[in-house]
Amino acid sequence: MRFLVAGASGFLGTAVQAVLVAEGHQVRAVSRSGRAAPGAEGVACNLLGGNISGLLAGVDGVLNLVGVLREDAAAGMTYRRVHVELAKQLARAAASVGVPRFVQLSSLGAAQSRASRYFASKRAAEDAVQATLPRAVVVRSSVVFGDGAPLLTGVSRLARLPVVPVPGDGRTPFDPIARHDVAALLAAVLAEDREEMAGQVLSVGGPRRLTLDDLVDWAARIGGRRGIVPKMHVPVALVDRAAAVGDVWPGVPVNRAQVHLLTTPNITEDRRWHRWVPHPAPAGED
Ligand SMILES: NC(=O)c1ccc[n+]([C@@H]2O[C@H](COP(=O)([O-])OP(=O)(O)OC[C@H]3O[C@@H](n4cnc5c(N)ncnc54)[C@H](OP(=O)(O)O)[C@@H]3O)[C@@H](O)[C@H]2O)c1
Repeated sequence: MRFLVAGASGFLGTAVQAVLVAEGHQVRAVSRSGRAAPGAEGVACNLLGGNISGLLAGVDGVLNLVGVLREDAAAGMTYRRVHVELAKQLARAAASVGVPRFVQLSSLGAAQSRASRYFASKRAAEDAVQATLPRAVVVRSSVVFGDGAPLLTGVSRLARLPVVPVPGDGRTPFDPIARHDVAALLAAVLAEDREEMAGQVLSVGGPRRLTLDDLVDWAARIGGRRGIVPKMHVPVALVDRAAAVGDVWPGVPVNRAQVHLLTTPNITEDRRWHRWVPHPAPAGED
């Protein structure tokens, strides 16, 4: 089969491309850079305003992985545009040319969309896609780990400080999931098109639950730090105010979306997806 992967050059997209190619599928890998895995067809296109329908010729399914953690209003890359408008345009284009399958990758935090503008945009994207394509499948993921993981890399950098500031009480729960497990799941959902999956929202997370403090310790070890990591728990409202500066000034390493990701419970009891990935890898083993 032939699939279009939007946001294919990113952390997750690179892994999904590799799985799809290894399983014998043809992959049209779309991103602004157009970077493609060996065996995939790379297409450089800004999907905000690009000719989407033209990219969908002969495609059996679309996987939307486009997302940004940090807005760039000057470049028109707001959460609203990149998450909601782009997903809507992609779904409408898929509907207009009759692409039968569509998978939208979202975040577990979308279930608590009031927590932040970032989560609200992820939720609005899900709704926009399923309003246009009621059979589309939404996959909400917990934080993903693996080489170059965006959120964990950020935490790892923070964990180099002598005393690590941790937003909140450090007890926010996470079910981190491995990149290769998310990639395997997305490839399976795209290719299998099971009737009972149509229109579903799957919530996915790994088998080992960690607190934010555990996550900081783990990220510190990944970054090469040994021994006990001294932490200072800072009230969320205070960190949030400081992070607001990061929203407008890229020099500040943390922005509000990252703070909300670290302080909003990121867990799930949904196990339906284990039929495709029966033994997901536990977090924290390094
Ligand atoms: N990583 C996680 O822990 C995690 C957890 C839950 C959910 N998710 C969701 O999974 C998705 C992928 O995450 P990721 O970690 O792989 O992110 P990522 O590495 O930042 O990848 C984002 C992708 O989107 C592309 N992109 C951005 N703007 C675009 C545009 N206007 N037109 C075309 N392509 C564009 C980027 O490529 P260019 O820059 O080359 O355009 C890149 O390929 C996101 O929606 C994210 O919210 C991730």
